[in-house]
Amino acid sequence: MQYTIKNSTSIIKQKEECLVVTVQTGKTQSNLIKEIDQSTNGMISQLINSGDISGELGKTTFLYVTPNSNKQKILVVGCGQGKNFDINAAKKVIQAAIKELTTKKVKNICWDILTLNSALSGEIAKQLPQITSELTYSFDQFKSTKSKQPNLQKITLLYSDKQTINHVESQLSQGQIIADAITSTKNIANMPSNVCNAKYLAEEGESLGKQYTNLKVTCLGEKELAELNMNAYLAVGRGSANESIMTVIEYHGAKDKKAKPYVLVGKGLTFDSGGISIKPSAGMDEMKYDMCGAATVFGVMQAVAELKLSINVVGVMAGCENMPDGNSYRPGDILTTMSGTTVEIINTDAEGRLVLCDVLTYVERFQPKTVIDIATLTGACIIALGHHYTGVMGNNLQLIEQLVNSSNKAGDKAWSLPIDSDFQEQIKSTCADIVNAGGRDGGTITAACFLSRFTEKYQWAHLDIAGTAWKSGANKGATGRPVAMLIQYLLDQK
Ligand code: BES
Ligand code: MN
Ligand code: ZN
Repeated sequence: MQYTIKNSTSIIKQKEECLVVTVQTGKTQSNLIKEIDQSTNGMISQLINSGDISGELGKTTFLYVTPNSNKQKILVVGCGQGKNFDINAAKKVIQAAIKELTTKKVKNICWDILTLNSALSGEIAKQLPQITSELTYSFDQFKSTKSKQPNLQKITLLYSDKQTINHVESQLSQGQIIADAITSTKNIANMPSNVCNAKYLAEEGESLGKQYTNLKVTCLGEKELAELNMNAYLAVGRGSANESIMTVIEYHGAKDKKAKPYVLVGKGLTFDSGGISIKPSAGMDEMKYDMCGAATVFGVMQAVAELKLSINVVGVMAGCENMPDGNSYRPGDILTTMSGTTVEIINTDAEGRLVLCDVLTYVERFQPKTVIDIATLTGACIIALGHHYTGVMGNNLQLIEQLVNSSNKAGDKAWSLPIDSDFQEQIKSTCADIVNAGGRDGGTITAACFLSRFTEKYQWAHLDIAGTAWKSGANKGATGRPVAMLIQYLLDQK
């Protein structure tokens, strides 16, 4: 999609195939609507009066009139009451318009959306590419009949406020970079496990490194992981025919090359069968999405490289597969993690924390400013927060608060859960330092408690994305969350 911002106060002078204009409920209308109204001999106001055009939020009316004899089409979109027009209303307007334009197969448009409220223009410019690419996304690589490429190719946005045009332009290009990052994350996350294994993640990482010279990519296979004593990570992958591979993507953007990096660690279970503690078959297909944390890291690193942020960032994709086999680790096993802490295995399906704990120890070597892990870690998180909020936990209140703020700013919701010491009781073991599964009660929190034992040397936060990383049912597919939230967090670091 090509986006342009055009500095003009007239919409009828524009030559695009379709003019998209917004109407409000009530008497006041924008100058652009008035302009079209005049050039069509009062047709717009007539249709508003007769109720054929509605200002109701998200209502669309498609008209074939020729305000300037260019055989143009006009799409009128209701934006509700002008005084209530906020970013959420703007999102609804954008969604409604894009859906209607797609069904009508329009190729290029000129749109008034940025002119409605100067104070909101930047935010709208940032959201627009994200909403558009969400609505036009399809994963059809494995379908014999490909879905049609969207007809809409070019969006011209009118904007005449010279004072803020630079800001709005930069927000628009940021929005495009975020949209592309989300698309990359979805493309990897949607891949089936027979294609996307740890090696696939590593190759994707390497090709990202080739594409962006400011990224350095290193892959550590089972031999290297064994040399590092990453025994918990290795135990999880032992039943799989696919090698466990940890992919490390480093970005150096800070002037001071030695500045402490922000570290992101993504759970990359390319399939989670549960292992010997095997999962029920219903819905097990969805465990191909158990690498959404790693896919998120990929997308965020792509955006970081593209935005050329002036900070250092390290992204780790912890690729691994959890399968039942004669070689698998078992319930009852006691593992010695890289940190030396021993873990009694209660349930081989609580594998994510085992992979993560060793990676969280590994990343100490970067002397991180903060470490954020992203993981489809617990079914319990879906019970707690549904599919709406990502769960945030950690060992530093300020970091948690920053992440929740970034999530609000990005419209990629997250909510914090408490991990106080009361919960630590649940992971006590009779024969090792800790157990890997603390029972059903507060399952999301006890999983985070487990991780907290490996993150004492730095500021750390954990994002449980079990409920938000993908959708089930008729719209089954990855969502690309929480890419937007994490990019926002990194954008706000200086
Ligand atoms: N990947 C799953 C968590 C999950 C389940 C995410 C369903 C999304 C939907 C994770 O590895 C897992 O199996 N967790 C167990 C932990 C339990 C055994 C302590 C769970 O949540 O049931
Ligand atoms: Mn599991
Ligand atoms: Zn899992």
